[in-house]
Amino acid sequence: MNKYKRFLYNFYKKNTNNFIGKTFRLLRAKLYSLRKQNFNGTKDDLRYVEASKGAFDKTKRIAFELSNICNYATIHAKCPLNCAGEKKILSENIVYKVLESLKINDYRGYIAFDVYNEPCIDPRLMMFIKKTREMLPKAKIAIQSNGFYFDQTLAEELEKNGVGIIRVSSYNPLEFERLSKIKLNIPFKVTPIILDDRMKIYELPENGSTRPCLAPLNEVLVTHDCKLALCCWDWKRQNVFGDLNTQSIEEILLSDEVRDLYEGLSNGKRNLEICKRCPHCR
Ligand SMILES: C[S@@+](CC[C@H](N)C(=O)[O-])C[C@H]1O[C@@H](n2cnc3c(N)ncnc32)[C@H](O)[C@@H]1O
Ligand code: SF4
Repeated sequence: MNKYKRFLYNFYKKNTNNFIGKTFRLLRAKLYSLRKQNFNGTKDDLRYVEASKGAFDKTKRIAFELSNICNYATIHAKCPLNCAGEKKILSENIVYKVLESLKINDYRGYIAFDVYNEPCIDPRLMMFIKKTREMLPKAKIAIQSNGFYFDQTLAEELEKNGVGIIRVSSYNPLEFERLSKIKLNIPFKVTPIILDDRMKIYELPENGSTRPCLAPLNEVLVTHDCKLALCCWDWKRQNVFGDLNTQSIEEILLSDEVRDLYEGLSNGKRNLEICKRCPHCR
């Protein structure tokens, strides 16, 4: 992490709960929303997509959904995995195939191993981390976990094997207290979470939004059944693209279907049923 980012990280960490931290967060959110408003569906937006000829030119994060399993799924009624059905695991061949593509493309963004699954429940996690570190030395490996399996030892081993940032959702105050005692040299953030109502997104009325959304352009989600998902809000996976069993990830990302989707969404054209109802622009 460079000096500037380290300073900001320590600053936010020190002031998480006080007036200074809250004011800075408010200002940052305001600046972010102003930036989004300026991104207003003109020819420039089209150029933004067209300028990216490489499959991953605009990708900031790639997430592998290693499975549809989470140890909290049965107690979290608002989590999509609560109704996941039969267990399914993403094959390691697909993970390695995608990593190979990323290596060829000199990918330097974030790599994650979660979407709705709990990554630490997967016995292959450390192996995938080591392999990613080896194949993509410039990429940043991020772990997002519910913290159930975390203690100081596991956290240190994740750091030692190349994880660059860890975010933990804590779902009760005792867990928050326990997890907050873990200390690492990399950013380690524990956040109390209240699950939102995302599962009802399909029932919302159309909201007429013409705000651009860059979610699928910024973040590529590899689903546990070897497809690319639209974004995490589409938890029913009504909109999936390609099949990594038979296609490369580049082929899927550069297909007309996906490029048209990027172009439309980055111009504020919310053609898909879920996007017409979605309150977000990411
Ligand atoms: C689904 S989790 C996946 C990783 C890990 N199992 C965890 O709990 O952090 C990703 C993030 O989305 C948040 N989230 C908020 N509302 C959610 C909901 N209704 N269903 C699932 N995740 C939700 C989670 O709390 C978490 O911070
Ligand atoms: S508009 Fe909403 S549902 Fe559509 S891609 Fe963006 S975040 Fe996902």
